[in-house]
Amino acid sequence: MKYTIAITLSFIILIFAYSCKDKAEIDVEPISTWEVIQQNILDTKCISCHTAGSSQATQSGLVLTSDVAYASLINKTPKNTAAASDSLKLLETKGLESIYNSFLWEKINAPNQEHFYEDHPEYGEIMPPGNIPLTNGELEFIRQWIVAGAPKTGGVVNTSLLDDKSLFTPDTSFIPLTQPTSGVQIHLGPFNVKTNYERELYAYKLLGNTEDIYVNRIETAMRPGTHHLILYDFEENATLPQKDILRDIRDENGNQINSTFQSLADQIFMFGTQFRSTDYKYPDGVAQKIVAGKGLDLNTHYVNYGTEDIQGELYVNLHTVDKSQIQYEAQNLFLNRLGINLPPNQETTLTSDYTFNDTRSIFMLTAHAHKLMTEFRIQIKGGARDGELIYYTNDWEHPEIKEYDPPLELGPGEGLRGIATYNNTTSNTKRFGLLSTDEMMIIFGAYYTP
Ligand code: HEC
Repeated sequence: MKYTIAITLSFIILIFAYSCKDKAEIDVEPISTWEVIQQNILDTKCISCHTAGSSQATQSGLVLTSDVAYASLINKTPKNTAAASDSLKLLETKGLESIYNSFLWEKINAPNQEHFYEDHPEYGEIMPPGNIPLTNGELEFIRQWIVAGAPKTGGVVNTSLLDDKSLFTPDTSFIPLTQPTSGVQIHLGPFNVKTNYERELYAYKLLGNTEDIYVNRIETAMRPGTHHLILYDFEENATLPQKDILRDIRDENGNQINSTFQSLADQIFMFGTQFRSTDYKYPDGVAQKIVAGKGLDLNTHYVNYGTEDIQGELYVNLHTVDKSQIQYEAQNLFLNRLGINLPPNQETTLTSDYTFNDTRSIFMLTAHAHKLMTEFRIQIKGGARDGELIYYTNDWEHPEIKEYDPPLELGPGEGLRGIATYNNTTSNTKRFGLLSTDEMMIIFGAYYTP
């Protein structure tokens, strides 16, 4: 008996020793994600300028050589005064929300460069300066590292992302879309956008469909200068705006036009893009139904800081499939909080919980609030991922429209938690309302029930 135990024991020890050896072999000097960024990206593409003593290092106040790079970035205030007064840090370590609060990311995120230059003309140039941005693989690698909290040690991102050597190329062309072979085309404009002016407007366009249609792909093409495009559906029984009329949100003197804000009451977000040319496909087997005879409200925002007037114009192709080809109908998520009470001269954070009793696969989320909102977070509520931050914006005018691929799977009893912070700098209590001077707290999204 003793003998057997001894043999078993030594056998276990042997296995143990063996598995330790195995592990030791696999883990030989693992290189951290940060070290990969330093060696593969900063050392090759940044330190030619960002080296102590160079004129560019003096101008930017930033040294990115391996001895100091990490410490020079983490939670440091940018030298760029506009970025500093927007409360950005060079690099934050709070995960997802740090993407929106890290100047480093703004400075390298080439695919967002039209917005970067339109929204923040004082932020300097996209890095590295010149025409060759970081590769899409490098950008995704850094983005995922920031989302993982930008740790100095540990491998937190798959290095195979770096194999994607494609480069973002700015799209300066405007080619009107041809009619879709199966579907509907919407065309808006051209309309004039004065120099030194931002023109944001809504227009209700009928689709001319005499039967229900099912949209599974949306293509857009817009003339340069556009900031975003959003397509809204309307709640049942909504009072619909007059078709084809351009409803500006501001008059020529910059005063808000209240009738436009009032016309947005029953809108439901359907699709949005911050890029001029988009080709968006719904998840496989999913399509959005648009009922016969209905139209969509288009919201477009043109920015013109040039010296001459420009023309705004856009095309949207709604590609449709036969109903027999779809497995799931896309549903609009519309979580609207009516009880809003923001006392004057103070910051208030509102939390709204929404629990679903069915299973939902959410594939898009965005947030909507007015100008007192400073931060809007969405977390998963319940289940294994309880409390996980899945959406963040600090931009009330242009909240990100975030796609989830694969979709977020929420089981019955799970849901979403919205957490919105408002800084009421006025001397009046602010409540829910349609005017831009009132406030809102809405989570919009799209999902299907598998
Ligand atoms: C050709 C020289 C050059 C190269 C290469 C270069 N930079 Fe810069 N960088 C500058 C200059 C000059 C500034 C200041 C002006 C500006 O912000 O546009 C700057 C500013 C910055 C800032 C803002 C610093 C602050 O606190 O305001 C960041 C962040 C930055 N660079 C990151 C990078 C990264 C990351 C790379 C490599 C991917 C890089 N730079 C490559 C010259 C360069």
